[in-house]
Amino acid sequence: MTFSLKNIESNHAKQLFKDNENTSVENTHVESSPVGIDRISFTTPHYYVDLTDLAKAREIDPNKFTIGIGQSEQSVPPNNQDIVTLGAQAALPLLKYVKKDKLKMLIVGTESGVDASKSSALYIHNLLKLNSCARCIEIKEACYGGTAALMTACDYVRVHKDSQVLVIAADIARYGLNTPGEVTQGAGAVAMLISANPHVLKINDDSVVKSCDIQDFWRPVYQDTALARGKFSSEKYIEFFLDVWQKYSEQNSCDLNDFAALCFHLPYTKMGLKALRAAMDSSENLSETSRVRLLEKYETSTKYSRRIGNIYTGSLYLGLLSLLELDGNPEIANPEVVNPGAANPAATSIQTSTIQTNSSCENQKFSSLKEGDKIGLFSYGSGAIGEFFTGTLMQGFKQALFASEHIEMLNSRAKLTVSEYEKMFNSVAKYCPEDFVSDTTHRDCTQFFLNSISSQERNYI
Ligand code: CAA
Repeated sequence: MTFSLKNIESNHAKQLFKDNENTSVENTHVESSPVGIDRISFTTPHYYVDLTDLAKAREIDPNKFTIGIGQSEQSVPPNNQDIVTLGAQAALPLLKYVKKDKLKMLIVGTESGVDASKSSALYIHNLLKLNSCARCIEIKEACYGGTAALMTACDYVRVHKDSQVLVIAADIARYGLNTPGEVTQGAGAVAMLISANPHVLKINDDSVVKSCDIQDFWRPVYQDTALARGKFSSEKYIEFFLDVWQKYSEQNSCDLNDFAALCFHLPYTKMGLKALRAAMDSSENLSETSRVRLLEKYETSTKYSRRIGNIYTGSLYLGLLSLLELDGNPEIANPEVVNPGAANPAATSIQTSTIQTNSSCENQKFSSLKEGDKIGLFSYGSGAIGEFFTGTLMQGFKQALFASEHIEMLNSRAKLTVSEYEKMFNSVAKYCPEDFVSDTTHRDCTQFFLNSISSQERNYI
């Protein structure tokens, strides 16, 4: 359809896959000085649709969405939000850690760009009143753009130790109403401050990359909805993961037992699970303890995505945030617990979900993540690039997170009926030269808005 890593220093750089001449694999040496994520935050629109409601409206068994796909809710952006406003909002909590004269770059990874020429980073730079000495650029390669931005930032900071780089991964995933991809839509942004004094996660210089020109998912510049060969894209995701994982484990003489957790790009939460299971099934010496631990941590890493949906470039990092912020709090983001209104057909059309904040560890079999734990991360961008890399948790990382703010943001979202969602979906600014004035309602809980488009120029407030 169209539509401890052992012997880490023994890393052999730049070996090539031999199975496909269009495919290249890159690897670089590990360095020990800590460069990585100093602070990380995310935002998502204030509105969501419940996917059980959507399934019923589409005359589909809700279990297909909640179990088969693994999604429970989906964030819906009003038409006064786009990747610029979401990106700026995500970065707001990081600003107090930005040292004005040290910020050298603002890199936005996105596949929902608002202009084919001008970088969205410049709009965000203006909204956030950042210093004029920072380079402002946008990187594109489908859902891999956030990782491309992160790797570029880390490389820059490794060379310029005194500098900071702000990385923003922002997207609005749109496939269209009543399409197979509809259940995998979503919207949001993740912002990461990269420095040589990271308080959250050291990014190890150990990536294995696979690039290959395939046609699994794309979006022509004249339309705002993506085209996907859904099944093919899911198969390619798993193939790319297994290839980079196998090469990584060979080059670093390690196996799955060496990881505290693995995080995946999450177009939908079942996707990463399929990839993880494929790697576990092909592992010869995976212990039962490791198998259960990796599955449990994977589950934790999917809790935010299950409620927000695909945010393309930011999805891997939303998974990382979910893991770090909810690890040790297994019940805290359970949508069945936090969204009682979803089961109440008599509920008002827009309602606020609530969350139980009395966290409990009793269901958790494994100890919480700790300093020095190694986390594997798999990034996938259709088209396609797959990259496997690792991060090491820093001392006191929990204190550097914004967990309660994020949970509060999710809890206070307003639920839409399916017809309200459809209206919001269809009201987006069109790809055309006509003037546009955005919705003056639906402006809750965010600071930045696309106010209008006049004479083909975007006006933000
Ligand atoms: N109860 C429980 N499970 C059910 C069920 C029911 N009543 N009915 C169906 N299911 C299960 C199916 O068995 C299937 O499970 P498996 O995948 O484990 O076999 C699952 O629900 C999905 O069912 P279908 O395969 O029939 O789903 P579909 O054809 O409607 O499409 C999709 C699913 C391909 C993911 C589609 O939503 C899509 O095209 N999404 C966009 C593309 C995408 O996300 N691709 C992912 C890889 S590409 C990438 O990662 C980049 C990116 O971000 C886009």
